[in-house]
Amino acid sequence: MTKKPINVVVVISGSGSNLQALIDQATAININITGVISNIASAYGLTRATNANIPTEVVDHTQFADRDTFDTALMATIDRYQPDLVILAGFMRILTPAFTKYYTGRMLNIHPSLLPKYRGLHTHRRALEAGDKEHGATVHFVTEELDGGPNVIQAIVPVVKMDTEASLMEKVQQKEHKIYPQAVAWFAEGKLKMEDNKAFLMGELLPPTGKRLSDDDNE
Ligand code: GRF
Repeated sequence: MTKKPINVVVVISGSGSNLQALIDQATAININITGVISNIASAYGLTRATNANIPTEVVDHTQFADRDTFDTALMATIDRYQPDLVILAGFMRILTPAFTKYYTGRMLNIHPSLLPKYRGLHTHRRALEAGDKEHGATVHFVTEELDGGPNVIQAIVPVVKMDTEASLMEKVQQKEHKIYPQAVAWFAEGKLKMEDNKAFLMGELLPPTGKRLSDDDNE
């Protein structure tokens, strides 16, 4: 018997290429994207959602006095779509502890670096400046600590001499479109859980890096 798909809400600020990967694989990974929410009205991801007949909402942070009131409104909006899982996909706002606590164990984020390396912004530039030979992307559970929740899965890309911020970004994003649907699929299957600030896959504690995208997939 096929399991009922889980409801997910995707929260974005921009292009939404990760959202697109989830839309494209929704049936395969057994998710129902009930809503897409953006803090930026012009975000292209909203168009992607509309094209896929997914309801959208804008919660514009500039219309709120402070982070607390914005986050409260965002939570209320998200909850109207009754998600089992909240997926941050290029959402560019820092969240309050009240928000992250409320969605503990049911909110994922994707970050363009091999966390714990390079939390925050400009990750591709920082990897280049450091002369790193490897860079990549990480899916992690969201906790109070910015880009600091337990890792679920990482994909590595080699850094070559010719790389620029733009070329690295492109390579990293291609991997993101594989690892985010994978992590979400695990969650939908009930295999991925967070407990005591640790991530478990099929009951096994994941290593600090998270799972690594297998070499077969890592071409
Ligand atoms: C991704 O690179 C993700 O790692 C970061 O923001 C970017 C979003 O890209 N958090 P998109 O909007 O999914 O195309």
